Amino acid sequence: RLAFATRSKSVATMAASQEFTGNLKREVEKLFDASLRITVPDGTSVETEVAASLPGKPGDYQCNNAMGLWSIIKGKGTQFRGPPAVGQAISKNLPASEMVETCSVAGPGFVNLVLSSKWMSKSIEKMLIDGIDTWAPTLPVKRAVVDFSSPNIAKEMHVGHLRSTIIGDTLARMLEYSKVEVFRRNHVGDWGTQFGMLIEYLFEKFPDTESVTETAIGDLQTFYKKSKTKFDEDPDFKEKAQKAVVRLQGGDPIYRKAWAKICEISRTEFAKVYQRLKVELEEKGESFYNPYIANVIGELDSKGLIEESEGARVIFLEGFNIPLMVVKSDGGFNYASTDLTALWYRLNEEKAEWIVYVTDVGQQQHFNMFFKAARKAGWLPDSDKTYPRVDHVGFGLVLGDDGKRFRTRSSDVVRLVDLLDEAKTRSKTALIERGKDKEWTPEELDQTAEAVGYGAVKYADLKNNRLTNYTFNFDQMLSDKGNTAVYLLYAHARICSIIRKSGKDIDELKKTEKLALDHPEERALGLHLLRFAETVEEACSNLLPNVLCHYLYDLSERYTSFYSIHQVIGSPEEASRLLLCEATAVVMRKCFHLLGITPVYKI
Ligand code: ARG
Repeated sequence: RLAFATRSKSVATMAASQEFTGNLKREVEKLFDASLRITVPDGTSVETEVAASLPGKPGDYQCNNAMGLWSIIKGKGTQFRGPPAVGQAISKNLPASEMVETCSVAGPGFVNLVLSSKWMSKSIEKMLIDGIDTWAPTLPVKRAVVDFSSPNIAKEMHVGHLRSTIIGDTLARMLEYSKVEVFRRNHVGDWGTQFGMLIEYLFEKFPDTESVTETAIGDLQTFYKKSKTKFDEDPDFKEKAQKAVVRLQGGDPIYRKAWAKICEISRTEFAKVYQRLKVELEEKGESFYNPYIANVIGELDSKGLIEESEGARVIFLEGFNIPLMVVKSDGGFNYASTDLTALWYRLNEEKAEWIVYVTDVGQQQHFNMFFKAARKAGWLPDSDKTYPRVDHVGFGLVLGDDGKRFRTRSSDVVRLVDLLDEAKTRSKTALIERGKDKEWTPEELDQTAEAVGYGAVKYADLKNNRLTNYTFNFDQMLSDKGNTAVYLLYAHARICSIIRKSGKDIDELKKTEKLALDHPEERALGLHLLRFAETVEEACSNLLPNVLCHYLYDLSERYTSFYSIHQVIGSPEEASRLLLCEATAVVMRKCFHLLGITPVYKI
């Protein structure tokens, strides 16, 4: 007969005086953990299964361990008569906690927990005083690298880089909020063979390279195209360009200088986009890792990983039908050798525990291959969810209305700056149509147009599961109805204006008044607010920003359900409801912040 444990009754008392640390699901899990430790026979190992209850179902959280546990212990002399009895025991053994209103068992043993509204109110009041940062998730890493944006020198940043920039920035923001030290890395392509032709072309057009400025070059992409045409059409030029690569990589100072110039001009162009998007990045481009490559390849070689194949040096990897080339047949290094070296550097020099790469899904194989090579070299654990950990955050294509890859009328790649310009112009026009140019100062008009326009572009991207393709449509993303940034920004501004119109000092109310969640709509809104941190943690752990967008949209819907039924200003519950409005606005603003969207206060 299996003995039923009395192992750690102290666990039960330990959990009773829980302080809310922000992650509601985790708090509930702690309670059920404690209960299961008493309910589960000694020697049985089960993982606590807790999930938020679906809308319309009884309870706020549900523990689903009874059925599984029963299938483990039945026939082994257990005292229980079936899953519902196991459920009863789980419920009975739940430690006393001020968090819990009731706990009951339904159907085949679902244990439903209803949170105490009083405890919920108290936790929200506390957040209002101590700030939303007290709800920040805790992740199992201290330091992370987010490798994102990473355009290529002399080539224009296109919509794909926009996706990488937006998604990467959000991931970095979520990690930073979770108290992780984040290195935001721009792994720019600054070391390809294209530099040979670019430099030769530059020498031809500007014999005095010293004086070359951004304006002299004009648009670098056109410059790139022209040099490419010449490369394809003129054999003499082609030969010169190929020699130029060798001289550049060999460290010839004149070639190095010209290279640096081209990089500098590109960098200035990129910086303008980052500034508009309010995205911070530190450039450590491909060339940064040059000094380390030979050693790293040497290390892989000494571990017996590298083999000769058709004149090149490669690593054969199980599960891939092509080997990973790390030294080309001409002795040069490539994208993979640089990435392996960058990974080595990030793990050993920067001591990063989590490295996240944001690029289109088209590069998935490249990442899978060099990740695998790194595991083979013993740099990373074999299991991909243990730390130090690497993840490729892939994303799909941006499509035009015709369902094809997004292009402009002249069928060129879409320039990022033009997109941002148009987003701003369109949102400004919409504001002027609503007469805002007469109400606001030109600066206010401009700032709001920017916040709304850029916010719309970002949100339209982030709200989709990143792996799916999405259609870029200005009309849709700038609509003030539906799941758009415009709708959400306005919802937030409306809440702020309610608080302003009440004429009350909200900071004073926080200190003196209580928040009550007596009505179902108030309670549903309060519960959703308390789920903020667990949502950020989920979005972070699974690297899925759309999870947070979904939460934000739900939040504004719950707020609408509350506000459309309950009077705030002038009602007997005014103070409490103003606090609820304020808490909603605080959480919304944090969501905007994490999504890289600037909130507006007037609409
Ligand atoms: N420059 C590359 C591109 O535009 C992206 C680089 C991504 N980062 C990396 N470590 N490979 O496709």
